[in-house]
Amino acid sequence: MENFTFHNPTRIHFGRGQIAALAQELPADARVLLLAGGGSIKQNGVYTQVKKALGSRTVFEFFGVEANPDYDTLMRAVELCRQEKVDWVLPVGGGSVLDGAKFIAAAVPYAGDTWEILTTHAAKVQGALPIGAVLTLPATGSEANSFAVISRRARKEKLAFGSPHTFPRFSILDPETTFSLPIRQVANGIGDAFCHVIEQYLTFPADAAIQDRFAEGVLRTLTEIAPKSLAEPTDYNTRANFVWAATCALNGWLGVGVPQDWATHMIGHELTALHGIDHARTLAIVLPSLLHVQRDAKRAKLLQYAERVWDIRDGSEDARIDAAIAKTRAFYEALGIETRLSDYNVAAATTAPEVARRLEARGMVKLGERGAITPAVVEAILRAAA
Ligand code: NZQ
Ligand code: ZN
Repeated sequence: MENFTFHNPTRIHFGRGQIAALAQELPADARVLLLAGGGSIKQNGVYTQVKKALGSRTVFEFFGVEANPDYDTLMRAVELCRQEKVDWVLPVGGGSVLDGAKFIAAAVPYAGDTWEILTTHAAKVQGALPIGAVLTLPATGSEANSFAVISRRARKEKLAFGSPHTFPRFSILDPETTFSLPIRQVANGIGDAFCHVIEQYLTFPADAAIQDRFAEGVLRTLTEIAPKSLAEPTDYNTRANFVWAATCALNGWLGVGVPQDWATHMIGHELTALHGIDHARTLAIVLPSLLHVQRDAKRAKLLQYAERVWDIRDGSEDARIDAAIAKTRAFYEALGIETRLSDYNVAAATTAPEVARRLEARGMVKLGERGAITPAVVEAILRAAA
């Protein structure tokens, strides 16, 4: 196991009725930016609960944060915060709203050009407004990590940053808020969380028994709850396990002391930037193909994954690896998520070299747990995902 320092400062309020905890978490004199997306929170009763808990606090509402939050939209919220001297950011929604809040929180006090926060991975971020989140879509883990992914449609960009200053101070996770999710978003959430675990687990063995068993537990839980999460939207315990699995997938526990491989996400972000494909769907396209292309580098862990997650024990090593990759693809397909570029009308012949070029231009020329995923390998992965 590698050395690590672990600190996750986000306080979690989990369960039914927990939105009421906002009343204790936010100072009585807080000037709050209530940040939201396209309006789902007004239809499912979440907005009403939030407003009740906020009581007489000064609240500025900003709706309209898009799925894949857009830089230009968020900058309008930054202006509002500066103008009104907002001192708390309260995102209410999915990962896009939470990520948007992190960018706003970092951008409000930022001295330089705020786009730099993305291009420098927040290297110069020295502070941020405090963030408290109400999560309505289990998927990204944004409720308990410091990361945010921001799109800039005007430039066809999608970039990530993370800073110790942008952990939410607290997050409220009430599984009942997820009952209103469209099936497509439930599927996306399960698929995204699954991939987060894989990218911290499916690398090479690091003698990290707890991290491995924990990762396998989250993966198995996701495969077990997936059918019922889709079929029975109001089954509380199924959704509770889904919400907690998605948080555990990317709150840092799984990734400590182990090698990681975020190439699927990096390639996926380019596919969203270029073709507007949902985040989780880009992962479903890239992951099976990446596992296939990287099968020798990941051999030992692929065999462990086959046995412990999919109960595949028979056959030659290569047959077991093939079966595990096929199970992974079938898992996404069973969620209703297609796994080939052609399913999205994207031509691999042109997109594969373009994505490779874009990552190269960003200096991402050594992705993967051993830095072995070069632009040429990225291209091969996408060609194999045709
Ligand atoms: O905008 P509203 O009206 O809220 O509707 C949203 C949106 O249309 C809807 N929704 C959310 N909660 C709902 C609901 N509809 C009904 N009932 C509810 N309870 O769902 C749609 C999608 O929401 P979005 O927030 O975009 O989805 P998700 O949570 O999957 O977030 C995706 C974004 O997170 C980034 C992705 O790149 C993408 O931009 N990621 C963030 C990460 C992080 N911060 O750590 C890591 C991830 O890997 C990911 O990259
Ligand atoms: Zn993701």
